[in-house]
Amino acid sequence: MKKIGVLTSGGDAPGMNAAVRAVVRKSIFHDMEVFGIYNGYQGLMEGNIKKMELGSVGDIIQRGGTILYSARSEEFKTEEGQQAAIKQLKKFGIEGLIVIGGDGSFRGAEKLTKKGYPCIGVPGTIDNDIPGTDFTIGFDTALNTIIDAIDKIRDTATSHERTYVVEVMGRNAGDLALWAGLADGAESILIPEKPDDFKSVVDKLVRGQERGKKHSIIILAEGVGSGFDYGHRIEEATKMETRVTILGHIQRGGSPTGFDRVLASRLGAKAVDLLLEGKAGRVVGIQKNELVDHDIVEILTHSHEINMDMYRLSNELSI
Ligand code: F6P
Repeated sequence: MKKIGVLTSGGDAPGMNAAVRAVVRKSIFHDMEVFGIYNGYQGLMEGNIKKMELGSVGDIIQRGGTILYSARSEEFKTEEGQQAAIKQLKKFGIEGLIVIGGDGSFRGAEKLTKKGYPCIGVPGTIDNDIPGTDFTIGFDTALNTIIDAIDKIRDTATSHERTYVVEVMGRNAGDLALWAGLADGAESILIPEKPDDFKSVVDKLVRGQERGKKHSIIILAEGVGSGFDYGHRIEEATKMETRVTILGHIQRGGSPTGFDRVLASRLGAKAVDLLLEGKAGRVVGIQKNELVDHDIVEILTHSHEINMDMYRLSNELSI
């Protein structure tokens, strides 16, 4: 393989730039030409493609977002869209593609692989919802952003003796909520993987108030429902002054943590290795600190599992 392409797709995640850098540098190290495809699959269909040099990825390892930009393309899901993409791949002589993104992006990679263009997926999403890897690129940075925000919320919550419901991202996964809840000592953590027991959330708040607690933090994963609705219900049931904070897209921005930079560098380089070995339709990951790769169809047909031991621990520590 002599010419490969790299794109970022779906929701951006801190560390994607470090992954792009690793792909470009590792390809050049192996004397391959590497092309940056801008705006995800949309840019691929439109031929928004430029050759990358060593310097194209200088000074980006520390930057959030993605220098290749990203998009969620509906058009690429159609047969015509995929044919347009293949036409561009042929035009540039690109023989293999590295797709950095989440499961929606991997669905596209699987389609192209089936049509004869070997693709390798690199899990990049703050949601940590990809099976076959312990961590996705961006999760650690988003987690630390949430922790930082909740530390601040805690200050004002104490001053006013209030209850806070903090809604965090994660789509249908509760990892961000669970890890942030454990790291922040939240009173309750609500995740889509576990049915909500409203009565026990309320009872815990009341017990805390009786013990003289000055504030309470409830972390709600967006996949459970609206933070505002939940806040209303809590205020009605407990009669405690309650405020709601939706952290929103600040969770997706910012300079990647050391962990995410290292993870992205390792996964990006591993993806290049797989293309060089002639592999196709694989998704790279990290399990027990070892680099691994799995069949893309397997990844797309399995669901990510949350660590229920951590969930139980968080309940034990927040009695
Ligand atoms: O997948 C990343 C993510 O930030 C999810 O946590 C969230 O549900 C979604 O993307 C938001 O998407 P958008 O940026 O398109 O509003």
